[in-house]
Amino acid sequence: MAESLTKSADREPILQVRNLVKHFPLTQGVLFKKQVGAVKAVDGISFDLYRGETLGIVGESGCGKSTVAKLLMNLERATAGEVFYKGEDISKLSGRALKTVRRNIQMVFQDPYTSLNPRMTVGDIIGEPFDIHPEAAPKGDRRRKVQELLDVVGLNPEYVNRYPHQFSGGQRQRIGIARGLALNPEIIICDEPVSALDVSVQAQVINLMERLQDEFDLSYVFIAHDLSIVRHISDRVGVMYLGRMAEIGTDQEIYEHPTHPYTQALLSAVPVPDPEVSGARERIILSGDVPSPANPPSGCRFRTRCWKAQDKCAEETPLLAVPAPFKDTDSPAAHDSACHFAEEKDVVGAA
Ligand SMILES: Nc1ncnc2c1ncn2[C@@H]1O[C@H](COP(=O)(O)OP(=O)(O)O)[C@@H](O)[C@H]1O
Ligand SMILES: [Mg+2]
Repeated sequence: MAESLTKSADREPILQVRNLVKHFPLTQGVLFKKQVGAVKAVDGISFDLYRGETLGIVGESGCGKSTVAKLLMNLERATAGEVFYKGEDISKLSGRALKTVRRNIQMVFQDPYTSLNPRMTVGDIIGEPFDIHPEAAPKGDRRRKVQELLDVVGLNPEYVNRYPHQFSGGQRQRIGIARGLALNPEIIICDEPVSALDVSVQAQVINLMERLQDEFDLSYVFIAHDLSIVRHISDRVGVMYLGRMAEIGTDQEIYEHPTHPYTQALLSAVPVPDPEVSGARERIILSGDVPSPANPPSGCRFRTRCWKAQDKCAEETPLLAVPAPFKDTDSPAAHDSACHFAEEKDVVGAA
C-alpha cells in the first residue's frame, strides 16, 4: 500500500473529467420518430485520473459505467461536459486529432467470449490496432511485435496462428489485454475485464494487469460491479449510482471509512472471511429497486432507497466537489461524498 500512496501523492492528472453527461433520447413511433424523453445514463460526473494510478469505478448494473468508459475514449459523444487528456478537451475531437489521442487511450472489454472475432487468428486480433496505426509497427516487424505481446501477457508466442475458441476464458482476456497494449498506450480503460471469468481466474488476470501497469507505466480506470473485485487493484475508488458519482476516495477511505449510505450498503454486502468481524457487522438491506434512469428521483438519486432520507434530499441535489480544473495539485479533497448527511458508520467492523 505504501507504493500506492506515493503513486497518488504524485497527483499529476492525466485525465480530467468535468460534468460529463450522456442522455440517450427515448423515441416513439416508427416513421415519424418523436422524442418522448431521455435515458440519463450519465448525468454530471467529474473526477481526475492521476498518472500511474488505478481508479476503480463501481456500481450496480445499469448505473452508467460502460457509458462513462465509452465517453472517456470518445466512442460515444458526450451530451455535455468535457474530458481533458493532458489538458486538452478530447470530447469534441474527431478525425485525425481523435485518432492520435486514441493511440494513448485503449480499452479492454468485459466479455472475452464476444469481444474477440472468432474468425480472426490471435495474431490478427492483437495486430489489428496496427492496421489503424501502421506507423506503430512497420509491416515486416508486425509478427515479431505480436509475438512479443503474447509473451508479455503470459501466452506462448507460438499460438499466434490459433483462433479464439482454442483458448480458455482467462487466456482470451489476456489476448484482449495484449491487443490493448499493442499501441503502447498511457491509459487503459478496463470495463469489467474479469466479471465474465471464473473467480479462480480473476485474481490471475488482475495480477497480470498490475504487473503490466508497473512495467509499462499505465494508468487504469478499472470498472467493476462489485467493490470486492477492485479493492486489491485500486488506489482510489469511485462509487456510481444511477448516472452519478455517490462517493470517491482512496481505497482506505472507501473501504474503511465510507461516508455515503450507498457505499456503506454496498460494503455491508461484501462477504468478510473472519466470522467475528462478519458477526459484528451490520448488514444493510436496501429497500426497493434502482429507479429508471429515464425518470430518476429529484434531488439525491439514492433517496428513495436511503434510510437517512429527509425532505432536503428530495429538494436539493447533494453534489460532489468538482476537482480543481488543472494541475492544481493541492486543493482536490481526497474523500468526497454526495450526501447531505454524510458520516461514517461502523459497517466494516475491524476491517
Ligand atoms: N445506446 C444506448 N441507447 C439507449 N440507452 C442506452 C444505451 N447504452 C446504454 N443505455 C442505457 O443507459 C443506462 C446505463 O447503461 P450502461 O452504461 O451500460 O450501464 P452499466 O455499464 O453500469 O451496466 C442503462 O439504463 C442502459 O439501458
Ligand atoms: Mg457495463
